[in-house]
Amino acid sequence: MLLRHWFYSAKRIIVLKPQRLTYTALWRSVNCHTGPDVVLHLNGQKGVPDNQVTKRRKKERPSCQPVLDCFDQQYSQELGDLWAPARAVLLDPHSWQYGVMLNSFSTVTGITQILQSQGFSTLLPQKGVSTLLDNGSSTMSNSKHQAGKDSLLPPDDISKCPPNDSCLQPDSTSHALDQDLQSDPSLSLPRPTLQCYIHPYPLWFPSQAHRPGQMKQYYLLNAASLLPVLALQVRDGDKVLDLCSAPGGKAVAIIQCATPALLCCNEPDPHRRDWLAKTLESFLPQSLTNRVIVSAQDGRAFGQSEAGAYDKVLVDAPCSNDRSWLYSCSSQQGEQRLKERSGLPSLQAQLLRSALSAVRPGGVVVYSTCTLSSSENYAVVETVLNDCPEAEPEDLWEEIAIPLSKYFTFNPAHPGHGQTAHKPSLQLQNGPSSSYHHKLGILVVPQPGKTWGPMFLSRIRRRK
Ligand SMILES: C[S@@+](CC[C@H](N)C(=O)[O-])C[C@H]1O[C@@H](n2cnc3c(N)ncnc32)[C@H](O)[C@@H]1O
Repeated sequence: MLLRHWFYSAKRIIVLKPQRLTYTALWRSVNCHTGPDVVLHLNGQKGVPDNQVTKRRKKERPSCQPVLDCFDQQYSQELGDLWAPARAVLLDPHSWQYGVMLNSFSTVTGITQILQSQGFSTLLPQKGVSTLLDNGSSTMSNSKHQAGKDSLLPPDDISKCPPNDSCLQPDSTSHALDQDLQSDPSLSLPRPTLQCYIHPYPLWFPSQAHRPGQMKQYYLLNAASLLPVLALQVRDGDKVLDLCSAPGGKAVAIIQCATPALLCCNEPDPHRRDWLAKTLESFLPQSLTNRVIVSAQDGRAFGQSEAGAYDKVLVDAPCSNDRSWLYSCSSQQGEQRLKERSGLPSLQAQLLRSALSAVRPGGVVVYSTCTLSSSENYAVVETVLNDCPEAEPEDLWEEIAIPLSKYFTFNPAHPGHGQTAHKPSLQLQNGPSSSYHHKLGILVVPQPGKTWGPMFLSRIRRRK
């Protein structure tokens, strides 16, 4: 009876067709808090066709006109022909897609099976992307572990790595840490693996409620959010600072990539810090909790207070957040945000400078935002590079944009980064003339069929 009520009051819809799982196991396994928003279509359920795939439905909410007008003016200049399709995606929440990042520490299995039976496929274990996840021994040991744990994982994942592939070559640090981890009985847990499932269509998958003391099986996110974490190239044993961390999606991705010696998650806003703490509680196994700390500083202070202390720093900066700003609650709120927007580049540059001081010589900083705005992206990076001679930008085009261009639409910076209209050459640009502009960063622009983004990312190495 309860179950029936739950079906009929559904607002958002997903079709799940369990195969080997019983309904009870599936329900326990998914354990979603969005009960009234979700429909599970079970095999043989009366009146429900098997394999029916239903788009999610989202409450209609009007876009905020002052924000849209401002974006129209700015982004048609900066993105040229890309803006009209990007605008269409941003104005159609029905078309938005979500990636399902798995928690490799969760002992509940079966999610992979559900995802695959509904047409989801993995974003990352693709040929040519293994270098993105070049985590030395952790990639290998975890592939083995996963293949044993869940027979539905494509068995050729391991065989895609030829014997001399770099992903099978542990570096000395990770080898030492591996031995350290093996000798620690509390760490007899799966080694992390970053796995994200995506669907070709905007299917809805239920989110999971926070339950104190209980691990979640997955985290829903815009798949473009993984790219800054991939660019960070976290290795076992690294000391990592996530300077602007709440609600913690990228922190979760970091611990799915490798086992850092320390992950400091910083968030000055108390409410968002609570949210961050809950996220970490839901995704961290007990054995890793002593490696992850939550800090409450203003990110601009780290450069002084912890100079040179970290191997890797992620600056996922506060920004215009185009998707959410377009749906500001009222015109007044939209106008207020636009007023405050002019102060963001200065804050972002201060955070990036602080990160470059907090990283050790030879370490890297990744700067990212979820706005298309050139003044918060390329211009911030360029400003900081101009006054930090020890900072060297690195080209992410070959490493990330080319291998992942099947899933994401990338736009490199271009001369004047936005002051002139973009030429319609969004296809991969190569050659020496564009390489400097690739180095400033790459921008994921939402487009129909590839609705991920906006996401800007730039990697900067501090010279030795
Ligand atoms: C884009 S969000 C971070 C999202 C997060 N990295 C994730 O993946 O879930 C930016 C965060 O920066 C925080 N923030 C704002 N000002 C800050 C400052 N001065 N120092 C550090 N963080 C700041 C905001 O409160 C916000 O939580």
